[in-house]
Amino acid sequence: MTAPRTPKIPYGGDYNPEQWPQPVQDDDHRLFTRARIDTLTVGVFSWSLTQPAPDTYDFTFLDGILDRAAAENRRVCLATGTAALPPWLARRHPDVNRTDFEGRRHRYGQRHNFCPSSPAYREHATALAARLAERYAHHPALLAWHINNEYGGTCYCDLCAEAFRHWLRDRYSTLDALNDAWWTAFWSHRYTDFAEIEPPNALTEHWRGPDHTAFQGITLDYFRFTTDALLGCFLAEKEAIRAHDPDTPVTTNFMGMFRPLDYHRWAPHLDFASWDSYPPLDAPPTWPALAHDLMRGLKGGAPFWLMEQTPSTTACRDVNPLRRPGELRLATFQAIAHGADAALYFQMRASRGACEKYHGAVIGHAGRDDTRVFREVSALGAELEALGDATLGARTPARTALLFDWDSWWALEISDGPSRLVRYQEVVHSYYRAAREAGADVDVVPVTADLTAYDVVLAPALYMVKGDIAARLEAVAERGGTVLATFLSGRVDEHDRAFLADVPGPLAPLMGVRVDEWDSRPGEFVQPVSMGDFEAEARLVFEIVQPRGAEPVGSYGTDFYAGTPAVTRHAYGKGEGWYVATALDRPGVDRIVRRILARHDLLGPCADRPTVETATRVAPDGTRLLFLLNHAPEPARFTAHATGTDLLTGKRVEKGEQLTLDPLGTLVLRIQ
Ligand code: GLA
Ligand code: ZN
Repeated sequence: MTAPRTPKIPYGGDYNPEQWPQPVQDDDHRLFTRARIDTLTVGVFSWSLTQPAPDTYDFTFLDGILDRAAAENRRVCLATGTAALPPWLARRHPDVNRTDFEGRRHRYGQRHNFCPSSPAYREHATALAARLAERYAHHPALLAWHINNEYGGTCYCDLCAEAFRHWLRDRYSTLDALNDAWWTAFWSHRYTDFAEIEPPNALTEHWRGPDHTAFQGITLDYFRFTTDALLGCFLAEKEAIRAHDPDTPVTTNFMGMFRPLDYHRWAPHLDFASWDSYPPLDAPPTWPALAHDLMRGLKGGAPFWLMEQTPSTTACRDVNPLRRPGELRLATFQAIAHGADAALYFQMRASRGACEKYHGAVIGHAGRDDTRVFREVSALGAELEALGDATLGARTPARTALLFDWDSWWALEISDGPSRLVRYQEVVHSYYRAAREAGADVDVVPVTADLTAYDVVLAPALYMVKGDIAARLEAVAERGGTVLATFLSGRVDEHDRAFLADVPGPLAPLMGVRVDEWDSRPGEFVQPVSMGDFEAEARLVFEIVQPRGAEPVGSYGTDFYAGTPAVTRHAYGKGEGWYVATALDRPGVDRIVRRILARHDLLGPCADRPTVETATRVAPDGTRLLFLLNHAPEPARFTAHATGTDLLTGKRVEKGEQLTLDPLGTLVLRIQ
């Protein structure tokens, strides 16, 4: 099953009329019509209303919302509402509350607050999902199911401890296998009974904090267990829905690059992926783009939904800058360029009270339709209406893949040594950014993905090598492709045990190098790396490389390893394996990635202007759509490299013509 079929990009977002007296809904719908809003995400936090007491369900309000939406020709993405517990449930079954990392047993409060292993939670949540599905499966407004909300968080209660032990029994069968995987002969940890195993937290293996563990193997397994435990909650609700509604697509809203959950383990169970984009302050445009591409990669390149973004400002951070005029439009077209088939907001109307009252909304507290934000939202609504179905179902014809691996992310960041300063996302982003700014479309995929369609595979910080990925990377190079790996790759197996081999372990034959030693230094220390006519700067970790077939491309400038290779290239089969043994600066990474892309003729038409982003999507009928996005606050002038029609203005563009993109402007060219 795929995303819901719609005649245009669904436009709208989280809508909570349960917070308001009825007449406000009239105003809402009047304003929605004005802004071309056609899709409402409903019921995300309404459990205490739909089930006010253990034996009482009350759907009057929800009936009203859905009926009204249908009468207004709007569709509803209906949430099961199980992400925030009703107070009565927590009082009646205290075990639905979580126990935190410090071992504190929580009492009622907050949201995203349930224990994934609590039978009472599971039972009540699935019962609610079943009732909702029974009631609304055939409602004309129903477009999609939105299970729970932003699954996340970890629980360390006794129920979770017991569930973890079961999970471990399933995974390892025997204690011998577990002891071997976790290397428990170290520090006298040999377990003689599953009952001795404790969840890894501040009271047990993590005295020095969440990323400091005495046993990476235990901690990694708890990440995996938590991923599976929350997935179990999702699956139970999905099954309850499917019993009444076999057809309506089901999703849950992810959070992009969200470390705690391995979304690749979830992906097969979603009908379509969706996510909430709230880029960090001052993030470059390639940061949300990387998350979009990661989300598109979850379902093999199928379009995803942008389930939430703010129309203006967030409220959850210490400082919450506004989106400047034009930035919302640009961010929305960027999402579409990367595969979004829906553009939804959090939130439609600002809450009057509680912690999100200052969060940006399409409609503010005064209910006005003449604010800047409302005007921009409406203008965008009109553009998306005009765009119709042109982009729906379109896929990205990428020939470059970037491997993204949660296991590597976890293992790298909970490691003692070589350096706590290396951040997985930053290494991955540096290579992603270089490829995107050079104009390559990039699929961000799991290590299990089929790599046969790619000319270039980037594998930055592939710390953990598991399954047959090393052989499949070799196959890419065999047939003429290029594979790039970096420092801190090929270090550990799936249990975080070091390979008993030269670094980079199973990647060594492809890379043609051997690493025996590595030096790590404080962030301010700079090691010059010379690459022929070009000098880059390197930081953090310096692996000392001995070529075993590879040729040096760059070498370190100082210290006892001065003159030894920092970057190498290895001819392998008809292709190449590149190894970058240190954290190079941006010009250094650009240089290498561009050389690789050039070898495969993958440099884009705007490769010389990093602030103009290009992305291609191919519609189901074969039509090629080229997105040009100007991320700079100045106009961008360039020569059109193809003939086509701009879908946003209807203007025809001739190849060779001088084009000007407005500041923060977008062009969607249907190529002829
Ligand atoms: C998340 C949640 C929403 C809301 C927004 C605020 O994405 O899903 O309920 O809290 O954050 O940014
Ligand atoms: Zn628990």
